[in-house]
Amino acid sequence: MGLLDKLFGKTKENETMSNVNLAVVFYSMSGTNYQLAKWAEEGAKAAGAEVKVLKVEELAPESVIEGNEAWKNTVEATKDVPVATSDDLEWADAIIFSVPTRFGNMPSQMKQFLDIQGGLWANGKTINKVVSGMTSAQNPHGGQEATLLSLYTSMMHWGAIIATPGYTDPVIFGSGGNPYGTSVTVDQDGKMVEDVEGAVKHQAKRTVTIAEYVKKGQQ
Ligand SMILES: Cc1cc2nc3c(=O)[nH]c(=O)nc-3n(C[C@H](O)[C@H](O)[C@H](O)COP(=O)(O)O)c2cc1C
Repeated sequence: MGLLDKLFGKTKENETMSNVNLAVVFYSMSGTNYQLAKWAEEGAKAAGAEVKVLKVEELAPESVIEGNEAWKNTVEATKDVPVATSDDLEWADAIIFSVPTRFGNMPSQMKQFLDIQGGLWANGKTINKVVSGMTSAQNPHGGQEATLLSLYTSMMHWGAIIATPGYTDPVIFGSGGNPYGTSVTVDQDGKMVEDVEGAVKHQAKRTVTIAEYVKKGQQ
């Protein structure tokens, strides 16, 4: 392995990966975070992980969703995606969360999901999960880092191991350069502004790799 590979955390080409279970848990109102979740799935599968893509339960009243075309379309597009459960988290060695920024915070739907994991937490089942977060926002400085920090605050209470991308690969610079986790700006038409597909896949691979180190270390 060359010096640059070491600096950017590249694995050796012939390195075999033990099987890591990864849950990608997302909330999405207009499809962005669903797309980020699917890219994470691709990246993690390419890294040899067993992957489940899961949504959190919708909490908004039907009457509100009905009046919003993009929201209705996302509900339809994700209707066959299973709702995440505590059992899924117990199964997972690693979890990637993907959430839109809501007033500089995670959406209540994701907060509710975290808040109903008290039983899992009380039984020590959240300890040593390797976790990482992704987000989107309408503005380039609309609170992305704050959203990820809100998620990571809860993860510290879980005893989880937070695996951020940092600047571990050149692809991060091209995607907007958020070391807290991949984040993307979404324009008025709901289109992603930065090209973050590579950064998401790198983050997924890195999360799987770190989970693999943790799993091997525990054996
Ligand atoms: C209630 C609400 C609050 C929002 N707050 C912010 C915000 O603080 N900063 C920002 O840039 N965008 C904000 N947005 C825009 C969303 O972050 C953006 O629509 C979202 O990232 C798109 O993700 P999705 O397609 O997965 O739903 C807000 C949107 C809503 C509906």
